[in-house]
Amino acid sequence: MNSLHFSPRRNWMNDPNGLLFHGGRYHLYFQYNPLGVGHGNLSWGHASSKDLVVWEEHPVAIRFDDDEEIFSGSIVVDAENTTGFGSVEAPALVACYTSESKHAAHQAQSLAYSLDGGLSWTKHAGNPVLDRRSTDFRDPKIIRWDGGPEGAEGSYWVMVAVEAKQQEVVLYRSDDLLSWTYLSSFGPAGAVGGVWECPDIFPLRLEGTDEVRWVLLVSLWPGGIAGGSGTQYFVGGFDGRTFTPDVHREPVEVSDEAGLAGLDWFDYGRDCYAGVTFAGLPDDQRTLIAWMGNWEYAKQMPVDAEAPRRGSMTLARRLSLTTVDGRPRLRQSPVGPALTPSGHAEDVVVTEPEGFSTPVPSRGRIDLAIALQEAEGVSLRLEGDEGHAVVIGYDRATAELSCDRREAAVGYPEGFASVQRMPLETTPTLELTLWLDEESIEIFAAGGTRVLTDLIGPLRSPDLRVTGIDGAVSLVRLSTRAACDGEGE
Ligand code: FRU
Repeated sequence: MNSLHFSPRRNWMNDPNGLLFHGGRYHLYFQYNPLGVGHGNLSWGHASSKDLVVWEEHPVAIRFDDDEEIFSGSIVVDAENTTGFGSVEAPALVACYTSESKHAAHQAQSLAYSLDGGLSWTKHAGNPVLDRRSTDFRDPKIIRWDGGPEGAEGSYWVMVAVEAKQQEVVLYRSDDLLSWTYLSSFGPAGAVGGVWECPDIFPLRLEGTDEVRWVLLVSLWPGGIAGGSGTQYFVGGFDGRTFTPDVHREPVEVSDEAGLAGLDWFDYGRDCYAGVTFAGLPDDQRTLIAWMGNWEYAKQMPVDAEAPRRGSMTLARRLSLTTVDGRPRLRQSPVGPALTPSGHAEDVVVTEPEGFSTPVPSRGRIDLAIALQEAEGVSLRLEGDEGHAVVIGYDRATAELSCDRREAAVGYPEGFASVQRMPLETTPTLELTLWLDEESIEIFAAGGTRVLTDLIGPLRSPDLRVTGIDGAVSLVRLSTRAACDGEGE
């Protein structure tokens, strides 16, 4: 297996679009330039998988033309044939995307449909179907509202999209996906240091209860917690018309670091953006994929001369909602490939300055449990054979995990060299799961309720070196597992 992360064979890619589980396969569409490695000629590329791990790339699904680029959006199965595009026996898949006009500063929502399971698409003749005469109205995510627990409200389509520059999520309803009625809007609220993009809204049961809460994801750029692109979320109630957050959040400016730290962030790394969830799965299998990139430098990332391409996706992540310190928090469980155990250690006392070193797979998973004992913290240095290194640190005093990729930034664009920080309460034992894939690291902590995703300079054949900071630590458990060819877990 080459990579654990989806990336098209060639060319430019950014946001995931139209994520849909249908006909036993996961469909991943994505912002794609069929003609090159720059962000342009935006179309929807397409790949599918039966396990979220091994992806097969398909021909371009919806292509730009002389009038429009095809910006981000979503797909639904029109099971009741509300559009008339298909039939009840053979329902159409309907994509709702943003038409980015090539003639004027104008964005509006348009439809395309597929009658062959998502491979080929026809643009609807009456596009656009929703036009606010706006320059920055984009990224429609459509869900089916089924009238809540009592079904009293009937059933209809709901669209969440953004007025990006106004930092507003706008909600509309429709019976047929063709004509839309305004419902409500949410925002500005929370982080507002940039444009709001790619919203998603979905229900999740609060773990250990029967209570269902709604999660509203909002990506923004710049103004993310790690600098540049980032995704915040709000938890609240949704009655088919209005999203009401549990906690009212005033807008927080980028300069207000403490204010930003108090918000709910989906990921604390620099390269997890525009994540949205799959349609077509049961609510208890809510699954997200995000773009592993950041608009601050994405367009300048190096390309491989032999197979020029830019952009990849995160691992797919199953989402749940749990209570931490009396507040709901998202928990993310990555869906990884089949793995082969490659190393194991237990109860190793790690003294300074010797530390403990072991080779780790360049593609695979590392699980660590470290008792900090009297130490102030711990340092985990991953160093590849080309000298690139990423240092993950835990500092007990600040209760922060850091990911320092400054030594893995040679040849990368300006602004790439950086240290990311994530709040992580001290427990006697620090437990981490790291997914490494040569050019990326995804760190899952606190049972997946704290996540940090970073692109990194390639780490080939890396070694991991564990050292205590100001004291010895105990490596309670270390296991490494390498990705192997084949199917998902
Ligand atoms: C988010 C985004 C979307 C837009 C798309 C264009 O990364 O800016 O708002 O639809 O990318 O490629």
